[in-house]
Amino acid sequence: MSEASATGTTEEILRGYTVAFEAGCEAFLLRYPESELYAPVRYLMGLGGKRLRPALVMAACEACGGNREQALPAALAVELFHNFTLMHDDIMDDAPLRRGHETVHERWDANLAILSGDALHVMACEALLGAPAHTLPALMRTFHRTALEVCEGQEQDMAFESRDEVALAEYMEMIRLKTSVLLAASLHMGGTSAGADATTLDALYEFGLHVGLAFQLQDDYLDAFGDPERFGKQVGGDILADKKTFLLIRALEEARDAELDALRAELGQRSEGKVARVLDLYRSLGVDAELRDAMAGQVALAEGALHRLSLANPGHSRAAHAKSLLYGLASMVTERLS
Ligand code: IPE
Ligand code: IPE
Ligand code: MG
Ligand code: MG
Ligand code: MG
Repeated sequence: MSEASATGTTEEILRGYTVAFEAGCEAFLLRYPESELYAPVRYLMGLGGKRLRPALVMAACEACGGNREQALPAALAVELFHNFTLMHDDIMDDAPLRRGHETVHERWDANLAILSGDALHVMACEALLGAPAHTLPALMRTFHRTALEVCEGQEQDMAFESRDEVALAEYMEMIRLKTSVLLAASLHMGGTSAGADATTLDALYEFGLHVGLAFQLQDDYLDAFGDPERFGKQVGGDILADKKTFLLIRALEEARDAELDALRAELGQRSEGKVARVLDLYRSLGVDAELRDAMAGQVALAEGALHRLSLANPGHSRAAHAKSLLYGLASMVTERLS
């Protein structure tokens, strides 16, 4: 997407927001004791990650004429909530690695990962209470609605593992719920923090939904084809778990005869060489290229929503920076390696 006007690459602008977020986050975590319950919280939050969602909260707030400081409570809420979902997701997905390090349930155990995850969710709600009182009811409405939707999406993701057939439309709805709504809500909550009008909030949300769909498509792509050194998670984990990703769904639809038999024989077992054999089938069926086309389609839809957004105050340098991040976001998300 073009129309970037501020200086610096999208990554550099993102970095400016993450530095501001990190300082606020460190101060927030000091409110909680150094006890066992919070050790996994500090561990997972300390492993960093891209901090994309809090940056989006702060950028949307500044793009709408506010400043990043007033958006900090909402930014903390979405990032703490995101980390809660990761802690529980890694138990559900039996994942060994997160952000290049052991997952919480591997380092401690599943019970502590469940409890510390629960604590993270409550901490997210407590962080949100720091928002200016006049914005709080609207922020809480978006935040809690989104939290429930993420749970709905995660339930579908798990249920699809053991289903023989899942339609592409069902997959798109599942990833809208488990992933996209949180990116969309981040932008919406940033706009709400700045007092943006309903039309602006709607466009921000729609933009976030399409960026979020592209984001999860790239996550599925990297889980299959990513570089283990860069990805930070176990490459091939989705294949081992028979996750109904875009790649598997389209491969099951496209494969015929011997290829279909070979693919079906891989499901429901975890034998040596499963990941490599499934990857070969994906490549020969061309579903990797198809995923990239689907992602480009979501980027185009995101671009449409962004052009409908009339963001005020283009002369203001913070607002110009924020707008640049939004314009560069879709490319950054689809070109990312981790
Ligand atoms: C991982 O999110 C979970 C998904 C929705 C795919 P991120 O890729 O944003 O994870 P971090 O926070 O950067 O580690
Ligand atoms: C995660 O989907 C969505 C949520 C955590 C809500 P994934 O299971 O694909 O995320 P990763 O790949 O483990 O980060
Ligand atoms: Mg999962
Ligand atoms: Mg997972
Ligand atoms: Mg994934």
